[in-house]
Amino acid sequence: MYIVLLGPPGSGKGTQGQILAKFLNISHLSTGDLFREILGNPNHPLYPEVQVVKEGKLVSNEVVNRVVENGLEKPEHARGVLFDGFPRTVAQAEALDRILGKMGKKVDLVIDFDVSREVLLHRLLGRRICPSCKKVFHIKQGYAECPDCHVALIQRDDDNEETIMERFKEYKEKTAPLQAYYRNSDATYISLTVTDAEKTPQDVQEEIIGELKKRGIIK
Ligand code: AP5
Repeated sequence: MYIVLLGPPGSGKGTQGQILAKFLNISHLSTGDLFREILGNPNHPLYPEVQVVKEGKLVSNEVVNRVVENGLEKPEHARGVLFDGFPRTVAQAEALDRILGKMGKKVDLVIDFDVSREVLLHRLLGRRICPSCKKVFHIKQGYAECPDCHVALIQRDDDNEETIMERFKEYKEKTAPLQAYYRNSDATYISLTVTDAEKTPQDVQEEIIGELKKRGIIK
């Protein structure tokens, strides 16, 4: 199964993506994680191309599409992929259709997270991540280190108010048009509204599983 997660920064794509991919036994491909890894390696050939991430701007379609196409050749992606943060523009969505088409596959399911701006900001400013396993936490959970890897949690460089505003702008201008793109495609489209700040990641996960069962995608 090939799944695309859509939603603004902080809407829970990473949190839900990690759990859902495990549940469905498919791989989790986060372009944000790939670019942060490149940013940590000045010798990487794409290091100059991904510097824009620090300003909250999108990496060029050409670079992103190349990275994803090369990445998809890995055997771990053969069972299916949950795409987190890709595609982010209509040009990327068209490229993904082309890449999957060559493999005789297609995007089967799109899950679109709709979360209020106020909740997004609160989540992003309080987010902490494990630099080793990439698991996502929030300061309100009270962890100083990853409970699995036992390394200190860190804050992402782009989780500051100025960069977050730029990321919101990029999302509205370039990524939101994908909602119409996928609503007009053959893929099953599930829209989840998470305006309730009290809805926990577990609540959202149960809602997703419920929707998948209702539509006969899983038993
Ligand atoms: P990326 O890493 O994809 O960042 P993003 O899209 O901005 O999304 P985030 O990772 O910030 O949020 P999320 O939706 O995953 O939320 P999360 O689950 O962490 O991309 C980073 C950058 O890379 C981009 O800005 C761009 O420059 C570049 N890039 C990446 N892909 C690209 C592409 N395809 N094209 C061009 N450029 C690209 O949750 C956030 C917080 O909320 C966490 O603390 C979490 O614990 C908490 N939380 C989640 N759900 C809940 C809940 N239900 N209740 C309470 N708290 C919750």
